[in-house]
Amino acid sequence: MFNSYIWSLPSRLFHWLFVGLILLAFLTDDGKLLNYHALIGYGVLILLVFRFFWGYIGPKYSRFKDFPLAFRDAKEFALNIFSSKQKYIGHNPIASYVMIGIFIVVFLTILTGILTLGVEEGKGLLSSLNSTFFKKMELFKDIHEFFSNLLLALIAVHLLGIFSDRVLHPAHKTLSSIFNGIKVTSEDYSIKLNIAQKLFALIFLALFVVFFIFNISIKNNPLVASKHMSVDYKKLNPLFVKECASCHIIYPPHTLPATSWVTMMGGLENHFGDDASLSEKDNRDILDFLVRNSAETSTQKVSVKVLDSIKNKDIIAITQSDFWKKKHKDIPKKVFAHKDVKSKANCKACHSDIEKGLIENDKIKDINAFM
Ligand code: HEC
Ligand code: HEC
Repeated sequence: MFNSYIWSLPSRLFHWLFVGLILLAFLTDDGKLLNYHALIGYGVLILLVFRFFWGYIGPKYSRFKDFPLAFRDAKEFALNIFSSKQKYIGHNPIASYVMIGIFIVVFLTILTGILTLGVEEGKGLLSSLNSTFFKKMELFKDIHEFFSNLLLALIAVHLLGIFSDRVLHPAHKTLSSIFNGIKVTSEDYSIKLNIAQKLFALIFLALFVVFFIFNISIKNNPLVASKHMSVDYKKLNPLFVKECASCHIIYPPHTLPATSWVTMMGGLENHFGDDASLSEKDNRDILDFLVRNSAETSTQKVSVKVLDSIKNKDIIAITQSDFWKKKHKDIPKKVFAHKDVKSKANCKACHSDIEKGLIENDKIKDINAFM
């Protein structure tokens, strides 16, 4: 028996970085961590590009042409699964299918992730797709979630494969080979990297490291930057701020549909129990401003979702929309009653950027601060 060195260092490093980042991608699947989630996705994409080329110029067993993908191989392998004979030094046929499946599904997950980020959040490379054309928005997110679930299933099959191989063919030392590169074989099948392969792997590793340094040092780079600009309402419309932000925070006009603003401005004498009435002219000017900038005119997620959830309902509070309720349903009552929050309408306590017309994920305050 021989100890054959078949998985080169770049192959193993790829494998573990891939595992680590995909794990992190699942762990950052949370609105507040969206920017990190996106960066991890781009990081995985770099790894995938490396793996793609490695599949052509890499060493034996890592090259795609050494993946036994013919159907008859798979059939033969499945029929002889209990035999201890080792026909495949690298991946066996079923493992090869799973491997290629994982690569394709991860690629599609990243692609739909970038689409979701662009269409739904107006962020990143495809932020220009955040437009009235995609008002429905959900499509890509649903596909993204579908692929990530498919990935989980493939990972489960992969782990199951490792486990059964451990039970059926312990002598081959397949599991430890992904740590040390060495499998036990009947002849010496060891591989050795040539200079070009080493150089290629090194360049990609450098690229990968530079990518993370770049993203950590330049937070608002085009990979994640939002197309939505902050607004200075005091400058844009001093009257609106003076009259409508004296009792509470500035509610950006794009957080409610035009019909809600018309209804609200028509009943200011009894505005949530307060008299907020204005002169006829001020009322007209403010209403005009609110309608010109209402939810219908914006592609921000909050606008599209609130509009969708209010439609023609007679609702004049964002907090009464189903969308708002759904997004905040897990927040305990006592958080809203906390002295620094006081009301669920006090958005600013948790969304520090709302008075600038934004509700960015990374600006959402941790509600544990109010527990
Ligand atoms: C005299 C004080 C006062 C003035 C002036 C005032 N509001 Fe209000 N507004 C309130 C109160 C009180 C509430 C209820 C807040 C709560 O539920 O905690 C409210 C709630 C709101 C809400 C609903 C927030 C939610 O729950 O989603 C909006 C939108 C709003 N006001 C817009 C305006 C606009 C626009 C103006 C200017 C025309 C204005 N307000 C002027 C007192 C005022
Ligand atoms: C006590 C804190 C708190 C208050 C007050 C609050 N929110 Fe939130 N909001 C949150 C948290 C936490 C989330 C994230 C929920 C999640 O997705 O897990 C959130 C999510 C959202 C989202 C969804 C963001 C996204 O991209 O998915 C919107 C929109 C939003 N809030 C708007 C508002 C508005 C408008 C107000 C005021 C009328 C408000 N919130 C008041 C805590 C708060």
